[in-house]
Amino acid sequence: MSDPYLLAGKTHAVFDAYGTLFDVHSAVQRHAGDLGPQAESLSETWRTKQLEYSWVHGLMGRYVGFWDLTERALDFALAKHPKIDRRFRGKLLDGYRELDAYGEVPGVLERLRQRGVKTALFSNGNAAMLERAVASAGLGDRLDAVLSVDPVRTFKTAPAAYQLVLDRLGTARDDVLFFSSNRWDIAGATAFGFDAVWVNRKDQPDEYPDQAPRAVVKALDAVI
Ligand code: LAC
Repeated sequence: MSDPYLLAGKTHAVFDAYGTLFDVHSAVQRHAGDLGPQAESLSETWRTKQLEYSWVHGLMGRYVGFWDLTERALDFALAKHPKIDRRFRGKLLDGYRELDAYGEVPGVLERLRQRGVKTALFSNGNAAMLERAVASAGLGDRLDAVLSVDPVRTFKTAPAAYQLVLDRLGTARDDVLFFSSNRWDIAGATAFGFDAVWVNRKDQPDEYPDQAPRAVVKALDAVI
């Protein structure tokens, strides 16, 4: 089911990376057999801490690159799951550098570009980690821009982060349709003034009622 109305008048589709284009749990899932029954809990803790660290460092005004926060979050998650062998640390980090893209992503990006809509990735991730993720998923020729918050040295949901999108793309808020699976990111983008589509992949309950998304979809191919 497509919903062309959402894209009416939009020149740019801007996508969050982790959780939206890439499956953050695919790094652990690849080793789930070896990691044992705590694998899913490890992955959830890893993601939760990675995000928490970005909010704390953003609010403190003490920027640390997202890859460093990702490593620190994994170290915390491994410490919380002592039955999992720390020798998997390197393999898990390698997996995080080359996460799986969700199945519908390549086709959606292609159809957007066929429609004349420019496509951009915008993420807390460092430039280097994003380039690696995009290349390993084979999305490089389907994205017109790959944008990291690095240059503004803060994280989403800071308005300065979303402003970087406009500055780098040379476009205006109304030209952008923003996509994220992270409801907190949708709140930040909406507060900044973007039309935001929440990609509610995990059927989560809604939150942030004062910053409502323009639309909610289960997957990106509900839009195009
Ligand atoms: C990102 C994470 C926060 O890609 O999802 O910015």
